[in-house]
Amino acid sequence: MVPFLDIREQNRRIEKELRAAVDQVIDNAQFILGPGTKSFEEAFAAYCGTKYCVGVNNGTSALHMALIANGIGPGDEVITTAHTWISTSWAISYVGATPKYVDIDPQTYNLDPSLVESVITPRTKAILPVHLYGQACELKSLSSICDSHNLRLIEDAAQAHGAKCDGKRVGSIGHIGCFSFYPGKNLGAFGEAGAVVTDDQEMAERIRRLRDHAQDGRHNHVELGFNTRMEGIQGAVLEVKLRHLDAWNEARRRLADYYRENLANVSGLRLPQCVDPQGHVWHLFVVLVDAARRDEIRQELADQGIATGVHYPTPVPLQPVYQHLGHKPGDFPVAEDVMAQCISLPMFPEWEESQARQVVDAVKMVVSNK
Ligand SMILES: Cc1ncc(COP(=O)(O)O)c(C=O)c1O
Repeated sequence: MVPFLDIREQNRRIEKELRAAVDQVIDNAQFILGPGTKSFEEAFAAYCGTKYCVGVNNGTSALHMALIANGIGPGDEVITTAHTWISTSWAISYVGATPKYVDIDPQTYNLDPSLVESVITPRTKAILPVHLYGQACELKSLSSICDSHNLRLIEDAAQAHGAKCDGKRVGSIGHIGCFSFYPGKNLGAFGEAGAVVTDDQEMAERIRRLRDHAQDGRHNHVELGFNTRMEGIQGAVLEVKLRHLDAWNEARRRLADYYRENLANVSGLRLPQCVDPQGHVWHLFVVLVDAARRDEIRQELADQGIATGVHYPTPVPLQPVYQHLGHKPGDFPVAEDVMAQCISLPMFPEWEESQARQVVDAVKMVVSNK
């Protein structure tokens, strides 16, 4: 059996470090924020190359708090990708703004910068791109669009811890970067966790207040606040795991290389394109197959002990919740094609060569019927 990812094996390999970190939080009993969170925030800011990091309770909250801190609210429009996990859009809706979706680039599956200017209106306040599957977006083009239209650039880096764009870590390039530490992410907590990173002191301080009931000093609530604080145990665990992140991302790259080498030229299979091999952190390895056979292929792979996923089956603007925006099938042709054909193969740093070989053999046999 080849699992889709193997968190238990990851924990087992660094068990001593993890137990020591958790023990410390048990001893100091600072379960919410506290030294575990503070120390992780400092380490993660340094890792990303930003001045500040603010830990929150999940990635969805990170995006939500980031939009508030960037002054996005009712009546505003935020440009984002049609192809992502729903949270990217939730944050826009939570602040009362309207998501304006654009289609994706057929090579990278990231938001296509060439489509952005056509949807800018006087109400547009921000661009919210997602570094999907661990590959950085074209931030240079997006930054220059933001500069010329006076827009905020908010990065959804939930799938791209450690990824780089032109040599800089994602999250550090726009006005603010948002991360999720959901357990299955490249950097995953022991439960829910998230963070924002930024160089902007005012935004960092505002999010620090917002996450803690908007208190400016004890019992002085200066605006509508939230309880979106990071737990001490999550900070402590994340700081341990952060020390291993680069090595884990390197191991993911090796697995991606293995797949790309051994699955090249399989008929009926499209491999993912990688713009910058050193910058991609391969959160997911997503191949495309004939849409009509996708479910059958997944079932046959499962029968051979290969776990797979679909990330994601439906463009966000075509989800029932966004029906009121009036989008219809055909509006996002590239995303719709990719989403009908995509299969995510097992991808995790602790892979063994025998597992990779098993995946390759099964995919070859099932996809090309050989
Ligand atoms: C692209 C993207 N954005 C946001 C999120 C939200 O993160 P969380 O699940 O921690 O709220 C996720 C996580 O699944 C994600 O993949």
